[in-house]
Amino acid sequence: MTVFCAVGVAIDGNNNEDKERFIKLVKKRGKVKALEEELYKQDDLDSKTDFETHFGIAHTRWATHGVPSAINSHPQRSDKRNEFVVIHNGIITNYKDLRKFLESKGYEFESETDTETIPKLIKYMYDNRESEDTSFSALVERVIQQLEGAFALVFKSIHYPGEAVATRRGSPLLIGVRSKYKLSTEQIPVLYRTCSIENVKNICNSQMKRLDSSTCLHAVGDKAVEFFFASDASAIIEHTNRVIFLEDDDIAAVTDGKLSIHRLERSASDDPSRAIQTLQMELQQIMKGNFSAFMQKEIFEQPESVVNTMRGRVNFESSTVLLGGLKDHLKEIRRCRRLIIIGCGTSYHAAVATRQVLEELTELPVMVELASDFMDRNTPVFRDDVCFFISQSGETADTLMALRYCKERRALTVGITNTVGSSISRETDCGVHINAGPEIGVASTKAYTSQFVSLVMFGLMMSEDRISLQKRRQEIISGLKSLPEMIKEVLSLDEKIHDLALELYKQRSLLVMGRGYNYATCLEGALKIKEITYMHSEGILAGELKHGPLALIDKQMPVIMVIMKDPCFTKCQNALQQITARQGRPIILCSKEDTESSKFAYKTIELPHTVDCLQGVLSVIPLQLLSFHLAVLRGYDVDFPRNLAKSVTVE
Ligand code: G6P
Repeated sequence: MTVFCAVGVAIDGNNNEDKERFIKLVKKRGKVKALEEELYKQDDLDSKTDFETHFGIAHTRWATHGVPSAINSHPQRSDKRNEFVVIHNGIITNYKDLRKFLESKGYEFESETDTETIPKLIKYMYDNRESEDTSFSALVERVIQQLEGAFALVFKSIHYPGEAVATRRGSPLLIGVRSKYKLSTEQIPVLYRTCSIENVKNICNSQMKRLDSSTCLHAVGDKAVEFFFASDASAIIEHTNRVIFLEDDDIAAVTDGKLSIHRLERSASDDPSRAIQTLQMELQQIMKGNFSAFMQKEIFEQPESVVNTMRGRVNFESSTVLLGGLKDHLKEIRRCRRLIIIGCGTSYHAAVATRQVLEELTELPVMVELASDFMDRNTPVFRDDVCFFISQSGETADTLMALRYCKERRALTVGITNTVGSSISRETDCGVHINAGPEIGVASTKAYTSQFVSLVMFGLMMSEDRISLQKRRQEIISGLKSLPEMIKEVLSLDEKIHDLALELYKQRSLLVMGRGYNYATCLEGALKIKEITYMHSEGILAGELKHGPLALIDKQMPVIMVIMKDPCFTKCQNALQQITARQGRPIILCSKEDTESSKFAYKTIELPHTVDCLQGVLSVIPLQLLSFHLAVLRGYDVDFPRNLAKSVTVE
């Protein structure tokens, strides 16, 4: 099997014989398991070497620059002695200039990565420091002033044993805090290099021993406290659920078991402290349980995840919806000129799926936009626009850029994310957490259905006082109530869908066709198939069939059609006729009551019928399951599709 990732770890060590300090670096192409095996193979993890510090950094890598290999994996280092080592998530856009500069100073590069410039640059800063007292964090501060692009970084150095410094700009980074003992503070004050002489002294003091206890975090009475740096909470939840989310350009240093945070200078909008937050995530939520892949587990979680999205928000008795994160802005939203919904990939499809019902319930023009295209067009945005940013991770760089663009133009910004504390949830004016629970599989499934339901809830909240819409609202709210049971019914078709996959898995191509409320289902189904099965798949708007795609249809081409009992039913029947007239053999996803479509179908998957605007929540699930089974049958790792990342933090 092809390996697309690489892993590495760096640990402080102490040679028992000559007491010389070193950093042990182990790197490997492959997954974490491969690294673990490599670690146990290494001879010097024996009595000669003392790893008493418990201080290390580790990284798993999906390549942006350079192929995945041990040499390109992180930690990257300054030199053969590992004087400085760095792990990096993101991309350094000016690395070519930095590399040229460092090469002119005699540095030799060993990898093809953009990251390698960073440990070499910090070593350069260290070798040219003006005072022996220069602290590790002061060096890091100098380094990041030279970096362009996006990064979350953690540094270690043999010159600063037992210390680590972390910083971010554009890429996510959080610090987990674990202690059995009472902590010295729940809010860490941010130190500003320019704010007072005293703080300057504190920051520049290399040992930071004189940091007074009010400027750093430790356990009371110098008892043990552990810190975990990570780009995602799911990586550390088995150790602690207490976290600090760092802001862009924060520099966090752990020295002598104490954590302090500083920034270069203070701006008026800065929050002067960083709070320790408690996450509601459970370890068991990120375990696979009896499922063979996270994606499969997450598909089967949908009866519960949609309930969690609605919990405490939809009152089925009074037919009201209250989204707490939006209530204070509702008046402003109702007065707006238009709604613009922006996202990438699956999140964009959730916007396409709900556009029609939002237009109907809000009576506002609704634009749906792919974040990258929205930015390419320099789309005009006005202060009376309301811009929604949909993102499971809350960290997608394209969506984040679009958010900043809309904020600059003073539009009201609304975040719809699944990740509490993510950049998008923090930077938007208001928003909704979809509460689907952690999604680990790279191919998004339960986040899609929860984003869908969240947007529908928003439409319902907006239309609460519209007399003419009450009947329709009632119908949709009843539909929401029965959704979990209906999802269960769809999931019970799993075996049938597996059989279908057995017929299809050797095909090269798969078309998915539909229109109206289910056009998004086709786009999302085709994306799932592409992402994890590597088959060519296209979501086609049935209304466009005769304008091009019909040329693809023959006996061989597999076509899935989504035909539901909704206002587009008759038009879908026309498309079906056009397919069968060309000897196409359509597999039809249709309503249970539909006898008409099945007459022309090669195969049918019959789904329970719900209100038209919610049908897409049900009809996407057979396609999620189909893509899963196809990928397994084709022998691919479902949770780690080649070339893709769960959270794309680079533009
Ligand atoms: C990546 C993932 C997709 C995802 C998209 C948007 O491309 O591979 O599965 O839909 O990002 O992610 P977001 O976290 O913003 O929803």
